[in-house]
Amino acid sequence: MNQRGKVTINTLLKMKKRGEKIVMLTAYDYQMALLEDGAGVEMILVGDSLGMVVLGYENTLPVTVDDVVHHLKAVSRARPRAFLLGDMPFMSYQASVEDAVRNAGRLVKEGGAEAIKLEGGRRMESVIRAILDADIPVMGHIGLTPQSLHRFGGYKVQGKDAASAEKLIEEAKFLEEVGCFSMVLEGMPWPLAGKITKSLTIPTIGIGAGAGCDGQVLVINDMLGLLEEFAPKFVKRFGEFGKEITEAIKKYIDEVKNEKFPGSEHSYS
Ligand code: KIV
Repeated sequence: MNQRGKVTINTLLKMKKRGEKIVMLTAYDYQMALLEDGAGVEMILVGDSLGMVVLGYENTLPVTVDDVVHHLKAVSRARPRAFLLGDMPFMSYQASVEDAVRNAGRLVKEGGAEAIKLEGGRRMESVIRAILDADIPVMGHIGLTPQSLHRFGGYKVQGKDAASAEKLIEEAKFLEEVGCFSMVLEGMPWPLAGKITKSLTIPTIGIGAGAGCDGQVLVINDMLGLLEEFAPKFVKRFGEFGKEITEAIKKYIDEVKNEKFPGSEHSYS
C-alpha cells in the first residue's frame, strides 16, 4: 500500500488480496484521530461504543444519530488518511428503510464519514440495498452484535454450536453478495471467524474473533487501558494510560496544594 495515499475501499480490498493485515481503531475526537492517523491505522471507526466510553451509558442502545454525527465531525476535522467509518446507532436503521437512508446520509453529509457500519445480516437486506443505492458504502457486522444485547440475554459469544456457526457463515456470504465492502466479525470462536474469512473476497475485521481475520479492531479506550476495571478476554492493553493519567493528576494536585505550581517559568512578569 502507498504509505502516504488516502486509504479507500480499493486499498482495503487490495490488502486482503495481498494478505496484509488491516488495522482499525475507534476514535471519538479530533486529537485521538490525529494520533491514530499519525501512527498509521488504516481504518478509524466512530463507533456507537462512544455511548459507553465517552457518554457513560451502560450499553450502546441510548446512542443517537446526533451523538454519532457530533463525534464524527470532530474526527473528520483531523482529515485522516485512514478510511473513516460512522456507526449506525440502535433504531437509526431498524424502523424503516427511509430512516436508514436518511440517517446514513447524515453520517456522510454532516459527519464526514466515508462509509457506514450497521449490525445484522440477511434481515437487514432492504436497508443495506437502499443505503448502497444512495452510493454510501456499507460495512456489515455479525456475531456478538452489541445492539442485540437483550435478544442474546447478555454479551454472549455467538456461533458456538454447529447450527449457529452455519448461520453466521451464511450471513457473511449474504453480506458479501449484497455488496458490503467489508464486515466486522465480533465475539465468535476463532476457527469459525477464520473459516468465514477464507470464504470471502471482502476483508473481515475481527474483535474477539481470533487471528484468522483480515484485520483487527479495538476500542481505543480499552487498548490504552484507560478504564482499569474493564478487562474482557478479547482486549489486550497496549498501555496503562488510566494509571498514568491518575498519577499525573495526583502530581498536579500535589504541586498546586504545596505551591510548587505555577513556578516563575510558568508565570508572566
Ligand atoms: O462501536 C464500536 O466501537 C464497534 C466496534 C468495536 C466494532 O462496533
